[in-house]
Amino acid sequence: MLSAAAAERNKEPILAVLRDSVHTGRPLLALEISSGTGQHVTHFAQALPNITWQPSEYDRQSIVRMMAWRVPIMSFVSISIEAYRARYRLNNVKPAIHLDASLPYQYWGGIQPESLDLVLNINMIHISPLACTEGLFRGAGVMLKSQGLLLTYGPYAVNGQIVPQSNVDFDYSLRQRNPEWGLRDISLLNSLAQSNGLYLERIVDMPANNKCLLFRKESLV
Ligand SMILES: C[S@@+](CC[C@H](N)C(=O)[O-])C[C@H]1O[C@@H](n2cnc3c(N)ncnc32)[C@H](O)[C@@H]1O
Repeated sequence: MLSAAAAERNKEPILAVLRDSVHTGRPLLALEISSGTGQHVTHFAQALPNITWQPSEYDRQSIVRMMAWRVPIMSFVSISIEAYRARYRLNNVKPAIHLDASLPYQYWGGIQPESLDLVLNINMIHISPLACTEGLFRGAGVMLKSQGLLLTYGPYAVNGQIVPQSNVDFDYSLRQRNPEWGLRDISLLNSLAQSNGLYLERIVDMPANNKCLLFRKESLV
């Protein structure tokens, strides 16, 4: 089981936002995009047992090495997700699937349109090319049920401004690592949401200059 320090720090504050924004009394289906180590899905599945969680990961870096060792095709991180699942005997967490958010929803592991109550995406938007964010909104727009929720977490720019200086420095360091990465502006995300039948319902300020953005899928009337 891998452990990321940031995930350990932010999992409880994000859970508080989830508790506040989803039904806790009726069965729900959630997809987490870019589950990383599996810490978040494990924490949320224990706290919110009415939700069936589908974790997913994109990172296949170690697949080639593992194939050389005749290990079944599975990324290092999804091995970590599986280890958490087994360790905590989480019946409400499905086996992790490979999911590239930049691909059309038809490639999202067989998930059916309008089947999800919640799509969760933590700390991916700024550490991936814009095509992933575009795909995230496109896919969420299709996969969510009417009134379903897309919750994203991370650092964002607001009206072209990044604050405080630590986030400016972080943005710079991301762009140095990959010119296609960097903090996205909430207004850009809002327009992507609108193009895909979602609207920005709420912004929640989070510790360490992060935010949760809650996008709701509009009802078809
Ligand atoms: C900083 S990690 C965050 C992982 C985890 N959500 C967390 O908060 O610990 C960034 C994540 O973005 C994912 N990612 C990068 N490109 C992606 C893509 N095209 N589709 C889906 N996820 C992607 C990476 O695999 C990685 O899991």
